[in-house]
Amino acid sequence: MSANTIVYEDKKILVIDDEVYIRDSVIGFLEDYGFRVIEAENGQMGLEQFEKEKPDMILCDLRMPVMDGLEVLAQVREQDETTPIIIVSGAGNIADTVEALRLGAWDYIIKPIQDMNVLFHAVNKAFERKQFIAEKTRYQQDLETANQELKVSLETLEQARDQLVQSEKMAALGELVAGVAHEINTPVGVGVTAASFLDAKTREFSEVYESGELKRSELESYLKTVREVSNSILINMGRAAELISSFKQVAVDQSSEKRRRFNLKEYIDEILLSLRPRYKKTTHTITVNCAPDIEMTSYPGAFSQILNNLIMNSLIHGFKDMEEGKIEMDITRNADTLSFVYKDNGGGMTEKQKEKAFDPFFTTMRGKGGTGLGMSIVFNLVTQTLKGQISLDSEPGRGVVFTMTFPELEIVNG
Ligand SMILES: Nc1ncnc2c1ncn2[C@@H]1O[C@H](COP(=O)(O)OP(=O)(O)OP(=O)(O)O)[C@@H](O)[C@H]1O
Ligand SMILES: [Mg+2]
Repeated sequence: MSANTIVYEDKKILVIDDEVYIRDSVIGFLEDYGFRVIEAENGQMGLEQFEKEKPDMILCDLRMPVMDGLEVLAQVREQDETTPIIIVSGAGNIADTVEALRLGAWDYIIKPIQDMNVLFHAVNKAFERKQFIAEKTRYQQDLETANQELKVSLETLEQARDQLVQSEKMAALGELVAGVAHEINTPVGVGVTAASFLDAKTREFSEVYESGELKRSELESYLKTVREVSNSILINMGRAAELISSFKQVAVDQSSEKRRRFNLKEYIDEILLSLRPRYKKTTHTITVNCAPDIEMTSYPGAFSQILNNLIMNSLIHGFKDMEEGKIEMDITRNADTLSFVYKDNGGGMTEKQKEKAFDPFFTTMRGKGGTGLGMSIVFNLVTQTLKGQISLDSEPGRGVVFTMTFPELEIVNG
């Protein structure tokens, strides 16, 4: 910072000294530079002037009658820390000068002042420093204000985000409920129709029976109807029950899921073993690339459901029209995250199917056993239970690639 940034005319300097000729020479010199100068002949009067005139700087002698310079310094500093105070004192006062600096004086000049430029230099330096401190303080305040504003906007943003997540969840839930109602409506509707048909038939049958005119052929016909209709009721109610249990899986309940420590590779092998009956008569193959020593504390049930759904989908959808389908899983551990890549070389998906694959009730097998809940269950398990991410890559004829990453898992070893 250069001296020319200071406008001397704006500055008021208080000179406190009991020796009149010193005051006069100092004042004369400072006034020549354009400073406004006020004076006091002892500490007591100096302090009064300070309180009344609020000078921008104080030049203060140490040894004075009534109140000495150290006392002035102490009292000024009690009221204000930013006004520069320069001690002007005799060469014999070194101990007091040191004490003055300790009390908060900014600089000192030895009397008699041989070279007035020394005085000018000290005054100028002190003003520069004062200005620098003021700028720094203002800068810090600006920064704090900006920080505060940032904090407020961040909080607002977070609130907005929470609300958005909440409303998105509500929308998703609404869709899900509508879907479930629609899906369950069919079997339940068929069941109700069948049951009321059975009810009507039974009334007719009772009337004939009570009239005592029941023929053997009528009894046989009634029994046949009962068998057929009750079978239809059973099938449809069974389907409804199945739908309800898949629906229950969608609402992944984390508390009911057991968290425990397990070896990932061993656990995947167990899952594959349980799925063997589903593909052992085919020529499809499953390869797992996973280090044998990854121990983790997590929800094994979730992994099992995810793999079950992915593998069943590959077998049912991917390998629908092919033999020798290949499923490959590559599991790698990086720092605290686990990367899980699942691939098949089946029929793949169109752009549209890919977009909708994770939506509840999206299926290309409607009416042929597909409910369309598998992938949405996978999505919920990955993102909610396991706090991970899942993405899907696929093209018709080029199979599927599901890339999952799981953070915050307590992976031990591996
Ligand atoms: N590996 C795959 N290859 C090709 N298409 C797939 C694959 N996985 C899923 N899909 C497509 O995504 C759709 C949705 O899968 P999802 O598992 O959600 O339902 P689903 O298998 O049809 O029925 P559900 O799993 O409820 O019995 C499937 O109908 C199928 O079209
Ligand atoms: Mg499925």
